[in-house]
Amino acid sequence: MGSALAEIRERSRIVVDEKEYQTGVRSIEMLRRELGENVPTAAYIRQFRPDAGLFLHPEIAFNPYDPHNIAHVARTQIAGACIARVQLRRNPRAYIVEQFVLHALAWHDIAVDGDEGYEAHASRAVTRIEEKGQQTKFYSAQWLQIRELMRHHMRRDDPALDEMPLNLLAMLNDVRDADASDLMRPPIYEPLNRIVLRTAEAVEFQLPLISQHIQMVAASISGDIYEAQFAAAERIGLLRVSEPRP
Ligand SMILES: [Fe+2]
Ligand SMILES: [Fe+2]
Repeated sequence: MGSALAEIRERSRIVVDEKEYQTGVRSIEMLRRELGENVPTAAYIRQFRPDAGLFLHPEIAFNPYDPHNIAHVARTQIAGACIARVQLRRNPRAYIVEQFVLHALAWHDIAVDGDEGYEAHASRAVTRIEEKGQQTKFYSAQWLQIRELMRHHMRRDDPALDEMPLNLLAMLNDVRDADASDLMRPPIYEPLNRIVLRTAEAVEFQLPLISQHIQMVAASISGDIYEAQFAAAERIGLLRVSEPRP
């Protein structure tokens, strides 16, 4: 794995600090070891791919150079599935529904708007999903939870009790950490030491460095930018490659 990655790194336009690079490689190995057979597959995560028609601005979603494109969504979903699985493995009674985390991440940035400003994009995303009738796929109690995760995904402070039930905080932290783990992406390039992570697992497995590895490798893969992230994550040994169908 190491040498193939080193070669790709040479060709990539993303400049990665040597120490961060090595830490990223070690983190991927640690995560694989921790999750064993429970490592997610691309086949599983892509079931949560957001429909193209949901994006307020397809030109943002499918622009390979936009920080809020569908490639960002894919990387947050990979990170979100990994954190959720580690947490559930360590604490099976934690209130974390991996599917809710993945739906919320699928839709969290569908309403990012270059013109009207960034501030309200979280609540706009909720409105848009409801206008498009996507919530009817869920029991209302389920949708009420997913929409809270979407609505508060960009908050730095924790929602007060009258804004969101306390039992959703663990999942909200997973969503926010999955999102924050992708902050080193161009053109944002947030330095690692300025990224706020809320879960011990995202810190332990250095998820921003793993996300950076995915970005680096995906940059050399052409075609669908959502799928490229999974191909990259498989190539660096993060995602488990599904068994071919008999
Ligand atoms: Fe967002
Ligand atoms: Fe995001």
